[in-house]
Amino acid sequence: MTHESRATFGSKLGVVLATVGSAVGLGNIWRFPYMVGENGGAAFLLIYVLCILFLGLPVMITEFFIGRHSHRNAAGAFKEIAPDSKWSVIGYNGVLAAFMILGFYSVVAGWTLEYILQAVTGSLSNKSAAEFANDFSVFSTGIIKPILWTFIFIALTHIIIVSGVKKGIERASKVMMPMLFIILVILCVRSLTLDNAEKGISFLFNPDFSKITSSVILSAMGQAFFSLSIGMGCLITYSSYFSKATNLQRTALEVTILDTLVALLAGVMIFPAVFSFNIQPTAGPELVFITLPNVFGQMSLGSLWSFIFFVLLALAALTSTISLHEVATAYVLEEHKMSRRKAALLVSGGILVLGIISSLSLGIWKQYTIFGLTFFDFLDYVTAKIMLPFGGMLICFFVGRRVDKKILKAELTNEGSITFHFFNTYAFFMRYVAPIAIGLIFLNELGIIKWINGIILQ
Ligand code: PHE
Repeated sequence: MTHESRATFGSKLGVVLATVGSAVGLGNIWRFPYMVGENGGAAFLLIYVLCILFLGLPVMITEFFIGRHSHRNAAGAFKEIAPDSKWSVIGYNGVLAAFMILGFYSVVAGWTLEYILQAVTGSLSNKSAAEFANDFSVFSTGIIKPILWTFIFIALTHIIIVSGVKKGIERASKVMMPMLFIILVILCVRSLTLDNAEKGISFLFNPDFSKITSSVILSAMGQAFFSLSIGMGCLITYSSYFSKATNLQRTALEVTILDTLVALLAGVMIFPAVFSFNIQPTAGPELVFITLPNVFGQMSLGSLWSFIFFVLLALAALTSTISLHEVATAYVLEEHKMSRRKAALLVSGGILVLGIISSLSLGIWKQYTIFGLTFFDFLDYVTAKIMLPFGGMLICFFVGRRVDKKILKAELTNEGSITFHFFNTYAFFMRYVAPIAIGLIFLNELGIIKWINGIILQ
């Protein structure tokens, strides 16, 4: 495919929307609250915000640079900028991560479809908190239903990827994203007026610093990368479609702010309710699905609210799965010279197999574990906590070592036509702070820093 024939995003708003569409998804509304809950609340949130600012933002700007500068897919981009080098391993890491993320993400996305159906049939009303929890567990550990929904969700993503109706999706996001935002605010208000709401707010915003451990830091960093869709080439692929006029720095800032705002709203929506309905904050991946129905149950027209909410959540998930699928499809299509249809089919087939295994690993295959984790948890852990930060670290190394600062600055300022006030600060963070911090967090989690400390102190 020649560079000239590649598509570009239509409008300025389209660029931001598609990128926000990739970033905002289940990561914000499903994964963020359950990570906060499992990692002790406010202390996690604090480190998360620091990771977003000091690691996430510089990595995002760097990905935008690579993508728009090379106009290639995640793996090809590195070959374009540094031919005959081993740097394209970053791209392969990303393509593999996209597959693996879709392997568990599609299962959770499938759950949202089940909840849409339940809202329509009215089975989300008049139940106690314990009944909601029990029903979810019966459903998610079952065999046929969750697999069927996973299949349907992958099929939806597949159709959009092959038929190129992304324009429609872009247009739909223009309405859906603001709607999701509004409904989140409404649900926050409802949640904040429940009994014991203040306990949830204190859990979320009042940090207990003794809770900070190496695993909390690793989880916060992983969540930052996962939520911003960075470290795996997704934003390289998207920005390869950006036009020369797109303001890369501003787009990165806008996407980061919106993504973080949605996660915070999700936290304010969930935790007051968690404490009000006596749900364990450490409930794990099911947290949102067992908490929210209780909130809807306390609202007049609860079924209608839950219907609207889960439709919007499914759409937010869809704009994310599209971006993940596109990473893998664009790679197969451009590097292996296949038709779009064939490439997409190959990718969808692979995801379906992973999706089936990870869904069953929550139920009948629970006893088969990898390093003590179910297949579902394993995919989640390896991608978010290892592959994405590792990819981000390499992306910074790559641009720091292989790209002339002048070229970097020219691309990020659109050949000098816009200013980048903090260019030197950005460059410093990208070259030194981000890669070193990510490396240290890895070493810390592996216990290597403690070990060295032990040797020194002996
Ligand atoms: N950021 C998306 C979310 O929060 C998930 C995602 C991760 C999408 C990595 C693309 C790449 O739901």
